[in-house]
Amino acid sequence: MSNSPAMTEFPPPQILTYPASSAPVLIAQGAEGRLYKTTYLLPDQPCALKYRPSKPYRHPILDARLTRARILAEARVLQRCRREGVPVPAVYATNEKAGWLMMEWVDGAPVRQRINEWLGARPDTEAAQVEAQSADQTPLISLMQRIGSAIGRLHRTGVVHGDLTTSNMILQRPKEHQHNGHTGEGAMEKGKALEGHVVLIDFGLATQSSSEEDRAVDLYVLERAFGSTHPRAEELFEQVLQSYKETFKQAPAVLRKLEDVRMRGRKRSMLG
Ligand SMILES: Nc1ncnc2c1ncn2[C@@H]1O[C@H](COP(=O)(O)OP(=O)(O)O)[C@@H](O)[C@H]1O
Ligand SMILES: [Mg+2]
Repeated sequence: MSNSPAMTEFPPPQILTYPASSAPVLIAQGAEGRLYKTTYLLPDQPCALKYRPSKPYRHPILDARLTRARILAEARVLQRCRREGVPVPAVYATNEKAGWLMMEWVDGAPVRQRINEWLGARPDTEAAQVEAQSADQTPLISLMQRIGSAIGRLHRTGVVHGDLTTSNMILQRPKEHQHNGHTGEGAMEKGKALEGHVVLIDFGLATQSSSEEDRAVDLYVLERAFGSTHPRAEELFEQVLQSYKETFKQAPAVLRKLEDVRMRGRKRSMLG
């Protein structure tokens, strides 16, 4: 999904005043659906509303069936993760016929954004960079560890995500910094910018699987996404894998598989 001002053109889905208690605001527009922020039952209970509009080019019966299956599948996976202690938003309500899923609003920003802010805030003279290199990496390393253990818990539960990127993880603003109408984005000090729980979102492509291959591909997708969005990704990703291993007993076999998956990826890119 990408953010653009043009998305305000899209009218909110025709869902009802119930259980939404305020007008939905479009947050993101993707190929498969739209994500709105609204409130659930009470005006002070923010929620995320994922809406899959019907596709006019698809046969109506097939379309309804697909939409229904996908909404239910996403809700089921979220509920299962939630039950097993994987950090994901709670499901509030679904209406698979109308094509929407309502879940807990995670207050924070995508991990991708937080990492870029963190790395981008570095000074750009050479001397200053050298200093930054040796500067305290603890917050970033700690974030990588939280990512790795979130994925470890996910895989332990028998779920593979299917689209692991740093955009599909929200760094939840620590409770004491959450929006109360007075504090803005800038309210958090730099030293705390990477604090908070890592919450996994976007289970639209998730499946229940305990296969090493599927798990390895999940990690590989994240590794590739990391490499293209974050400089110095390699050493960072190593931290992710390290804490994945500490969280998930079957990790060693998955990491061996990851070697194969990488190899295949390299061969493919050589054939180009
Ligand atoms: N529960 C949530 N709380 C807060 N923001 C969310 C939530 N779910 C999604 N978002 C925001 O909406 C964006 C799109 O949602 P996502 O589920 O990733 O849809 P898509 O499948 O189109 O990528 C996310 O990148 C995130 O910024
Ligand atoms: Mg997404």
